Amino acid sequence: MSHRFPDDFTFGVATSAYQVEGGIENDWSQWERLGRLKDKEARCGRGVEHWERFESDLSLVQDLGAHAYRISLEWARLEPKPGEIDAAAVAGYRRRLEAMRARGIRPVVTLHHFTNPQWLHVQCGWHTPAVLGPWRRYAKLCAELLDGLGAAVITFNEPMVFVLGGYLQGLMPPGLKDARSAAAAIENIARAHAIAREELLLRSKAVSCGISQHVCVFAPERRWHPLDQAATRIAEDNFNHGLLRALTTGELSLRMPAVLSLKRRIDGAKDSMEFLGVNYYTRSHLKFIPRSPFIEFAFKDVNRRGLTDIGWEDYPEGFAQVLKEMKRYRLPVWVTENGIDDREGSRRPSFIYQHLRALLDARADGVDVRAYLHWSLLDNFEWLEAWGPRFGLYRVDFQTLERTPTPAVKYFRQVATSRTLEPP
Ligand code: BGC
Repeated sequence: MSHRFPDDFTFGVATSAYQVEGGIENDWSQWERLGRLKDKEARCGRGVEHWERFESDLSLVQDLGAHAYRISLEWARLEPKPGEIDAAAVAGYRRRLEAMRARGIRPVVTLHHFTNPQWLHVQCGWHTPAVLGPWRRYAKLCAELLDGLGAAVITFNEPMVFVLGGYLQGLMPPGLKDARSAAAAIENIARAHAIAREELLLRSKAVSCGISQHVCVFAPERRWHPLDQAATRIAEDNFNHGLLRALTTGELSLRMPAVLSLKRRIDGAKDSMEFLGVNYYTRSHLKFIPRSPFIEFAFKDVNRRGLTDIGWEDYPEGFAQVLKEMKRYRLPVWVTENGIDDREGSRRPSFIYQHLRALLDARADGVDVRAYLHWSLLDNFEWLEAWGPRFGLYRVDFQTLERTPTPAVKYFRQVATSRTLEPP
């Protein structure tokens, strides 16, 4: 196995708007006020002031030797009221994206990273087809905003996580627990992806568009148990592959016995990705339970490496495995997220090393992996867990907002600039 990355391999980092920018009013800020986070008092609030500190944070990206930076556009910032566009926000994003270009950093831009304007839930929500009207308006605005920047565009971040959390488990806005709504939301997201692509193509023929799929390794909790094995197959097929299949074949088919079943043609979805974004974090052990939602999951420290601080298994072997599974789609693969909640910062260099080894292993096996974007540039607001976890290459003091490099900064820079993988 080679220890070299090819010259055109892209090293980069990722963030999402709500988790870092600060000052955003959307469905999550509302969720927080409703006391729906683990810590009922926690608020995202000023985030880590990435909106104000963008230029100096961009210098941190550069200091990493990174050539791509993944950000997301915040729909609620751009369109605070239905149909009312905030011109200053549009100009603000445009300036930030141009600043990236000026520094030789390729923008990778997510249009939807878990958050929505609160008014969207009042009007419709992702489980009703009516969402596609406002979405087209937003996608058109994004296409204008991104015109001529050569950005790689990710229409949706982890759509299955978003739908599971928001429409089946009731843990994220809008808090529904309904399999039919979940299935409808997945269908509408597949259609919304095709719509966004259509709007991008109206502006430019040279579109580079994909989604970021959360791909998890699933394993049966009781290896011998046929129902745990079945749960594992169902999760792999629906959660990991259902949407990717839809966006390559044009047909959405989901089947979870007793939970949901769906088969639809999606106009414009066939061959609608230039690249496939993979977010990889961990392996999950699944157990069948004889009551809704029928599948329970747990993270186990199988190889005794120690769970990560958020409690997930550290399982780099699984990274090679999921990347190899992507071969079937015959698309270039971009790793759009991979990272560790490491509150002390000492484990991250070796985590990166092990995962990049797995990536090179997958490349050697013929997977066309072209990029690795580490999650995350900065410590940030971690959704239901709020300010506990630390995924940042740069540690942020949440009082003063001062940024300090963790030991992984030096290591990342060394790998990205030498294009050679050596242990830390
Ligand atoms: C999400 C990020 C999140 C990260 C760590 C991914 O599921 O896209 O927004 O911070 O995982 O939990």
